[in-house]
Amino acid sequence: MAQPDNARIAQVFDAMADRYDSQIGVVERRLLGRPRQWAVEQARGRVLDIAVGTGLNLPLYGPDVTEVLGVDLSEGMLRLARRRIEEYGLDHCAVVRGDVQSLSVPDTSVDTVLSTLTFCTIPDPESAAREAMRVLVPGGKVVLAEHGPSTSRAVTAAMRVLEPVSIRFGADHLTRDPVVYLQRAGFVIDEVRRTGFAGVGIRVVAHSPS
Ligand SMILES: C[S@@+](CC[C@H](N)C(=O)[O-])C[C@H]1O[C@@H](n2cnc3c(N)ncnc32)[C@H](O)[C@@H]1O
Repeated sequence: MAQPDNARIAQVFDAMADRYDSQIGVVERRLLGRPRQWAVEQARGRVLDIAVGTGLNLPLYGPDVTEVLGVDLSEGMLRLARRRIEEYGLDHCAVVRGDVQSLSVPDTSVDTVLSTLTFCTIPDPESAAREAMRVLVPGGKVVLAEHGPSTSRAVTAAMRVLEPVSIRFGADHLTRDPVVYLQRAGFVIDEVRRTGFAGVGIRVVAHSPS
C-alpha cells in the first residue's frame, strides 16, 4: 500500500493537532505505561526533540537539560508547541519546521536526541536515525519511547490487521520496531524495555560510539 510522504504527514497532523493532546493522553495511560516522563528524565545537555509535535515533552525537561530544539513537519502541531513555550515561559526551548530525515542542525552539536512516539510515523526512519547519529556528539545519547510489535503474538497479529487503516488515516505504522533503525545507523544499544499493554510500548536508550 502507498506509504504517506512528508506532505501527507503534515496534512494528517495539521488536521489532528487540536485534539492530539487529549487523544495521545489516553493512549499513553491505557496502552503505553506513561512513557513521556521516563523519556525526558533520560535527557541531558543540549537536546534535539525530533518530531516534537505539540511540545508535550517541553515543560517536563529537568534542570540537567540546558536547551531544547524541537523539529516537526506540521505547522498545526508546531503552533501548539509555540503556545506551550510561551505559556510555560520556556526560554531554553525553541521549535522549527523541518524534516528529521534531513536536518538543518550542525554535526556533533547535540548531547541527547529524544523521540517520543515518532518512529512509527517518519517515512524513512533509517534516515532519521542516521541524522541523529550525525548531530550527536561522540558518546551522545538517543532516547526513544515508542510503540511497536507486542510481546504477544496474538496482539501483534491483530495490530497487523489494523495497520493498513492506521497508516492510511493516521500515518501510523503500528508494528514498526525502532531498534532496527538505530542499529543500522551504528548506535550501540544500552537498554530496550517493553512496557504497557501486552508489551506494545518500547523504551530504548542507545549511544553513538565515542
Ligand atoms: C504521533 S506524533 C508525536 C509527537 C510528539 N513527539 C509527542 O510525543 O507527542 C508524530 C509527529 O511526527 C511528525 N513527523 C513525522 N514525520 C516527520 C518528519 N520526517 N520530520 C519531522 N516531523 C515528522 C508529525 O508531524 C507528528 O507531529
